[in-house]
Formats: sequence, structure tokens, C-alpha cells
Amino acid sequence: MGERDLVIDCEALTRSFPAGVALDALTLDARPGEVLALLGPNGAGKTTTMRLLNGVLLPDSGRASVLGLDPWTQGEELRRRTGVLTENAGLDERFTALENLEFVGRLRGMTEQAARKRGMDLLERFDMGHRADVRVQGFSTGQRKRIALARALLHDPELLFLDEPTSGLDPAATRDVVDLIGSLAADHGRTVVLCTHFLGEAGKLASRMAVLFRGVLHAFGTPGDLAAELWSRFEVRLDLGAPAAPPLIAALTSLPHVHEAVATERGAIVFTSARDDVPSVVAACVRERSTVFGVDPRDPNLEDVYFALEAQAARSRSTPAPDLVGAFSAEVPS
Ligand SMILES: Nc1ncnc2c1ncn2[C@@H]1O[C@H](COP(=O)(O)OP(=O)(O)O)[C@@H](O)[C@H]1O
Ligand SMILES: [Mg+2]
Repeated sequence: MGERDLVIDCEALTRSFPAGVALDALTLDARPGEVLALLGPNGAGKTTTMRLLNGVLLPDSGRASVLGLDPWTQGEELRRRTGVLTENAGLDERFTALENLEFVGRLRGMTEQAARKRGMDLLERFDMGHRADVRVQGFSTGQRKRIALARALLHDPELLFLDEPTSGLDPAATRDVVDLIGSLAADHGRTVVLCTHFLGEAGKLASRMAVLFRGVLHAFGTPGDLAAELWSRFEVRLDLGAPAAPPLIAALTSLPHVHEAVATERGAIVFTSARDDVPSVVAACVRERSTVFGVDPRDPNLEDVYFALEAQAARSRSTPAPDLVGAFSAEVPS
């Protein structure tokens, strides 16, 4: 894919606030029609990233092209083509649901009629048609989110920035919103940048994920890439009928790609680089005259990856991150 086809292309974006660095040399990209998740705990820099890319916040340094525009000199033009769901939906309490949409539609240059029709269509699609003419004052968090999402979509933007779209929602409302976001990208070709601290949401929706901790990008790739790259977490559980004896543990540990072997009640857990290492693990058991009753190789899941990254980030807090990014994106040793 050529650079010009990228919806977002940013390099070394850095932004500090008086309290410290909120975003440290962020480089990433988004392709047309993908859901890109910015994943990380509170304070990771997700909202800052989103605001920079939408041109409402200036960077200290770095460069970005979003929909082919420079967000900081062509922000107005850019924002006519992007839709934003901010963390706290920010609706006008005095207005009805539909009036809130109409108001923003007019700001975006739509005719009153067009804004009204499109607004009503969206409210109906989000199951809020019956509340169109009710003031938003008494609305639940879930209802507000839906109206805010409708508002973000009103002018049919090519690129959507959704900041914590499911925070404060109950499980049913969360599922609805997640399904809706999925269909925006899959059925309507929209590109979505999704900020979330919910791993499950990112894993379900995102084609690629950027994992941020304290302003530093620690991993960027498909959920599968991220899991595969975290090589040391490939876990093989061995059922040997009894705890692995020290000589076997030593033999396992000395294998080329084995990082660690730990005896368990019925055998051992071996941490290797990849699934390809399983045969050599079993062969070592046989050589050591252990009876292998069962082999259970377990691919790392996203949760493993996320927590391993978080631990890595915590360990590196005193030392800067570039080496970590390198270590993480390094090829799996073979
Ligand atoms: N407008 C601001 N003024 C001062 N500090 C800010 C501002 N926006 C963000 N920060 C700080 O930058 C860091 C990253 O914040 P943010 O991007 O909101 O993280 P996230 O969205 O991942 O929770 C935090 O330490 C936050 O306090
Ligand atoms: Mg945020």
C-alpha cells in the first residue's frame, strides 16, 4: 500500500503538558476501512493522540498526514471529513435528541432539512427514534452515547475518532455499540480510530492495535501479530503423571528455544518461542525417560500480551522505551 493510501500516517508525534510527556514520539498509520485501536490504561496518551490527529491539539514535534491533510494547518477542512465521539459525550442538555443533531448538522454546513432527515435516520438506526423529541436532560449514559455517536456520524465522515465509546455502558448497551462500530467499518468502509482501555473490545473490533503505556507505543500490529511476537509466552503444559524431576527440568531448560521450565504437580510447564518447539520438548522428555501422557501447547492470548507489555512498561519506567519497542517487534528467533 502506498503512503498516499493511508488514512493516517504520523511520525514521531510528541506532546508534553506541564506535568510531563503525554505522548512520546508516536509513529503509526491507519489504512482505509480499518478499525485501529489505541489501547492502554488511563493516562496512556490515547485521547491526546486522537486530539492531535484531529487537529484540535498541536504537537511539540512530529508530523502527520490525516486524510491527506495536515491536521494543524488544515484542521477545519479535516474536521469536515472526520467525526468525533469524545469521552464525555457533551450534549446540550436543553435540547432534544434531534435538536442536538440538527445543531451540529448546521455547524457542519448541512441544510436544516438534510440534518433533520439524516439525524432522524440515525436515531432510528440506534433505536432512539422514539426519544427524538425528548430533551436529553434525563437520558441514561447509554442513550447519550448513542446520540453522541449519531452526532459523530451525521455528516457521513470518512474517518471516525471514538474515545472510550463504551465506557459507562451496561453489557447490553456495550454489545450494541460494539456491533455498530464493527458494522461501520465492515459494511460502510469507514476508518475508525477507537480509544479504549478494554482489551476485549479492542480484540473484537480492531484490525490492528497500538498499545500505549505512559505515552510510549509498546506494540503495534494485528491482535495475532501482537500475540505471536510475545514469544516468551508460548506455553506448553506437559502431563508426565508426576512432577518433572530436576534432571528433566535441566534438560528442558537447555533446549535452544526454551526460556523457562517449571515443574508442576503432574509434569511441567515449558515456556518456548513458538509452537514449532513442541516436538523438541517432547523428544527431550522421551530422552530423559519420562512418560508423556499429554501435551497442551497454549497460544498466548491478548490478555497475556497486554499484561506482559504492562509489566515490561513498568520495568522500563526508569529507562526509556526505544529498546523495548525494538525488542517487541523483533522477529521471533528461529
Ligand atoms: N489538556 C491537558 N492538560 C494537561 N495535561 C493533560 C492534558 N491532556 C492530557 N494530559 C495528560 O497527558 C497524559 C495522557 O492523557 P490522555 O491522553 O488523556 O490519556 P488517556 O486518554 O490514555 O487516558 C495524562 O498524564 C494527562 O494527565
Ligand atoms: Mg482518554
